[in-house]
Amino acid sequence: MDRSESTILVTGGAGFIGANFVIQWIANVGKPVVNLDKLTYAGNLANLASLSSDARHIFLKGDIGDTPVVAKLLAEYRPCAVLNFAAESHVDRSIHGAGEFIETNLAGTFRLLEAVRHYWQALPAGQKEAFRFLHVSTDEVYGSLGPADPAFTEHHNYQPNSPYSASKAGSDHLVRAWHHTYGLPVLTTNCSNNYGPFQFPEKLIPLVILNAIQGKPLPVYGDGQNVRDWLYVGDHCTAIRLVLERGRPGETYNVGGNTERTNLEVVRTICAVLDEIRPDHSPHSSLLTFVQDRPGHDRRYAIDTSKLKRELGWQPAVTFEEGLRQTIRWYLDHEEWVRNVQSGDYRNWLAVNYGRR
Ligand code: NAD
Ligand code: DAU
Repeated sequence: MDRSESTILVTGGAGFIGANFVIQWIANVGKPVVNLDKLTYAGNLANLASLSSDARHIFLKGDIGDTPVVAKLLAEYRPCAVLNFAAESHVDRSIHGAGEFIETNLAGTFRLLEAVRHYWQALPAGQKEAFRFLHVSTDEVYGSLGPADPAFTEHHNYQPNSPYSASKAGSDHLVRAWHHTYGLPVLTTNCSNNYGPFQFPEKLIPLVILNAIQGKPLPVYGDGQNVRDWLYVGDHCTAIRLVLERGRPGETYNVGGNTERTNLEVVRTICAVLDEIRPDHSPHSSLLTFVQDRPGHDRRYAIDTSKLKRELGWQPAVTFEEGLRQTIRWYLDHEEWVRNVQSGDYRNWLAVNYGRR
């Protein structure tokens, strides 16, 4: 099986990173993608509208934990790789209710691994060797850094602190074990904070952009000095493609933007760009509102990307300032997308998360 010639199966491809990945894959690789997504509140077929008449994108609504469905898909489409983006992904939601996180991120990944293992074990020798299972994970599994600590390498201990990161850490361990025990050719990527088009506005950057243009308060948790390492989503997708193509089975690869910023810096930068290009509520920084902190809030994440650079030659192409400007422009230009995601369940979430802060 030549991976560059065959179909891939992507899970969670109607979410933020998955949709960006599918669009990039079709544009750059041009081979078929089967996209399995449960369409939770975070999954949105509008993210894939540009592919609606492209026969290379095959969308199926379903759960990674539904073994008969996954087994049928594998038997029918015979993918050369499975890329697992599907997850519950928001830390604050995991604090309000961890059940779905355990169900999808842990039990779902287990069931997916088992279905894939049975499929992989029955493949003819050449195809079996070429097959890959790529698991998309997060830097949050490593826990929190102090101000002077070196950035996370692939050898950093796992110390997850939130229900979300604990469920992702568990899934990483399952993936590792399926390689060690059964020989499944797995790859794991642990990436820092992404931003860009199609991100659901429960996450900091789109939330602040949309609140700011609507003249609403910009909620900053605690003292605003928590640090994240930001990466433009397109650069993350490029890294995943490279790891799939040339990563060594059984290995993990850290992906990050080498762009540490405090939350306050991020919010102030968004305000400054909006003051320039959409001055209606200027100065937008007057909307900034400190609110009660997130329980167990990790102080700092930073990623050491030297392995990915050394082994696969990857580095981010988009600077934070450029990427943020493009992202702000994208949200301004996609009013209908924004209107649709801000209806219904989104309003309930704002009441749950911000109502009593
Ligand atoms: P997202 O919440 O935007 O999208 C998740 C997608 O998974 C949605 O389309 C949803 O419908 C789907 N999904 C959820 N449960 C499912 C299930 N049981 N079966 C099938 N589909 C299901 O998330 P995202 O931000 O795009 O993140 C994608 C992956 O990347 C996740 O695994 C996340 O942990 C990881 N990650 C995210 C970031 C980030 O900054 N957003 C950074 C590093 C890693
Ligand atoms: O590090 C990778 C992780 O990044 C991914 O694994 C997660 O899926 C993704 O959601 C993201 O997690 P964070 O918790 O870092 O992202 P979030 O956008 O929720 O928050 C970013 C920072 O901003 C964090 O320190 C909390 C803070 N914050 C967030 C919100 C929503 C605020 O100050 N105010 C807010 O309203």
